[in-house]
Amino acid sequence: MREDLEEIYYTKQDIKTRVSELGEQITKVYKGYDEITIISIINGAIYFTVDILRNINVPIRLDCIRVSSYGSKPYPDKKPEISVSIRLGIKNQHVLLIDDILDTGNTISMVYDYLNKCNPSSLLTCILLEKDCPRETSFKADFIGFKVPDKFIVGYGLDYAERYRNLPYIGSLKTELLNPV
Ligand code: IMP
Ligand code: MG
Repeated sequence: MREDLEEIYYTKQDIKTRVSELGEQITKVYKGYDEITIISIINGAIYFTVDILRNINVPIRLDCIRVSSYGSKPYPDKKPEISVSIRLGIKNQHVLLIDDILDTGNTISMVYDYLNKCNPSSLLTCILLEKDCPRETSFKADFIGFKVPDKFIVGYGLDYAERYRNLPYIGSLKTELLNPV
C-alpha cells in the first residue's frame, strides 16, 4: 500500500462488482421507461458515473453539475454552491442524481432541492459512498454503493485538493497529511 494511505476499504474488484449490482438494481427500477436523465455532480462522481452508466440498461441523457464547497481543505469551509449548472431541461423528466460521497449531506440535499424546483417527473439519488458519521441533514439516498468509516476518503474519483482521484481503489488518507486549518 502507498505510504500516504491509512487503509484500503474497497479494491478495484469490489468496486466493479458493486457498481454492476447497483446498475442492475437501477435498471430494474427504470425498466420500460422511455428515457431517464442522469445528473452527475462533478468532479468527484466522474469515475462512478462513467462505470455505472455502462451497467444501466435504459436510454439515458447525461448532464453534469458542478458544486464547490471543500476547496483544498479536508472539510467544507462554506455552504455548497452550484458553480456550473445543468444545461438540459428536466421538467417532466425522470432524473437520477449521482454523487460520490454523502458526508454532512449538505451538497446532495442542496442539489436535490435545486433540481426538484425544476419539476422533474421523478427524482432519485445514487451515491457511491455513505460516511458513517452523524449527519447534518437527514438525507437518505435511494441507491448506495458502500459504507465507509468517518475518515477522509480518496480514490475512484474522490480527491484531496484534486489529487488521488485516479487511485483504482477506495481508501483513507493518513490524518497527518490533511492540512490543519
Ligand atoms: P457533504 O456536503 O458534506 O455531504 O460532502 C459532499 C461532498 O464533499 C462530496 O461530493 C465530496 O466531493 C466531498 N467530500 C466529502 N467527504 C469527502 C471525503 O472523505 N473525501 C473526499 N471528498 C469528500
Ligand atoms: Mg471533492
